[in-house]
Amino acid sequence: MEGVRPADRYSARGDIEPFHVMESMNAAAAHERAGNRVLHLEVGQPSTPAPLAVRAAAKAALDDDIIGYTGALGTPELRERIARWYHERYGIDVDPARVVVTTGASGSCVLAFLALWDPGQRVGVIEPSYPCYRNDLKAFGIDVVSIPVDAETDFRPTVEQLDAAGPLDGLILASPSNPTGVILHEEHLTELLGWASAHAVHVIVDEIYHGLTFDIEPPTALAVDDEVVVFNSFSKYFSMTGWRLGWIVAPPTLIPRLERLAQNLTISAPTLSQRAGIAAFDAREECDENVARYRRNRNSMLGSLRLAGFHSIAPAEGAFYLWVDIAHTGFTASELCRRWLEELDIAATPGIDFDPVRGERFVRLSIAGSEADIDEAGARLIGWARDSGLDAPGQEEEPG
Ligand SMILES: Cc1ncc(COP(=O)(O)O)c(C=O)c1O
Repeated sequence: MEGVRPADRYSARGDIEPFHVMESMNAAAAHERAGNRVLHLEVGQPSTPAPLAVRAAAKAALDDDIIGYTGALGTPELRERIARWYHERYGIDVDPARVVVTTGASGSCVLAFLALWDPGQRVGVIEPSYPCYRNDLKAFGIDVVSIPVDAETDFRPTVEQLDAAGPLDGLILASPSNPTGVILHEEHLTELLGWASAHAVHVIVDEIYHGLTFDIEPPTALAVDDEVVVFNSFSKYFSMTGWRLGWIVAPPTLIPRLERLAQNLTISAPTLSQRAGIAAFDAREECDENVARYRRNRNSMLGSLRLAGFHSIAPAEGAFYLWVDIAHTGFTASELCRRWLEELDIAATPGIDFDPVRGERFVRLSIAGSEADIDEAGARLIGWARDSGLDAPGQEEEPG
């Protein structure tokens, strides 16, 4: 039977970049299996479980529900609760009929990309940004138009850059951004969404890190432009990565298309998670305690990085990452991450995932871990920089 089903006749769709963060996680796990205690600064997930009320609701649902399928758009109760969340958090009214419950923001990417764009259409993607946007679009045959941002504009895209990108059919924005932590404030959203509206460009704004912000609560893009497609998820603020639950808020005209795709692709998001997830919205106190820890960790790690001679770091206004320029070390990000794992037992993620062109110049550090681990990692980095002669005197202000 040899050669009957040759691998070179598989679809090119699977021929995309891996999600390199997963490889960093694998390397860290292998180092751990070899007997080392690793400080995990590579993982993009909270180190806490779901809120207590969610876990209690899940236990109750297991006892009183058959946990069958739900409608493809999600349970009416959860869709209504999500809509109410917009009122509570942002003071805006969202019709529950515009809410689609998904299998996390990852599921939202699949549904929304398929519903919005056809193969060959051109979608602007900010670099650096969450790698799955680019990889999923490629898998679907949609053309990725890279819009590189850097420290000059605080890692925010400008309308001049959008103008220069050539004709676009779509644009994907994120606020706060993974990996930079940069927020699109009201004035940025107004400008960028105004441009998109004037050019008839469909925009997705990924708000999965909303709630995880330190000095200011950004507006939802829905408050600025009712026609954008917004993603959010239970994974980050609600500390529920493995529950695989998220949502989309979309214009009413897109909902039937999202519904048909969801019916055919997944039938429904996980029912147990939907039943339990409702309780998350009333667990703000517990979630905000995590945010307080992220804020503290961010300040601690920013201080350590500066003492270690790393002075070019994106403004981490939200999310739980630091995007650190490592050019002065003389190492590529991949080399540096390998060294830090071997020499310091610190796992970090090289920037190539987020920016395939300039990513070897940046490392992403997650500060979602425990306070003790973040402080210890900072101390080890300071020691490493001193031993390597890289701890040049600080040039920047103390973290706020
Ligand atoms: C910006 C961004 N969007 C989407 C996702 C996917 O999240 P999930 O599928 O867990 O909701 C992630 C995960 O890290 C992310 O960082």
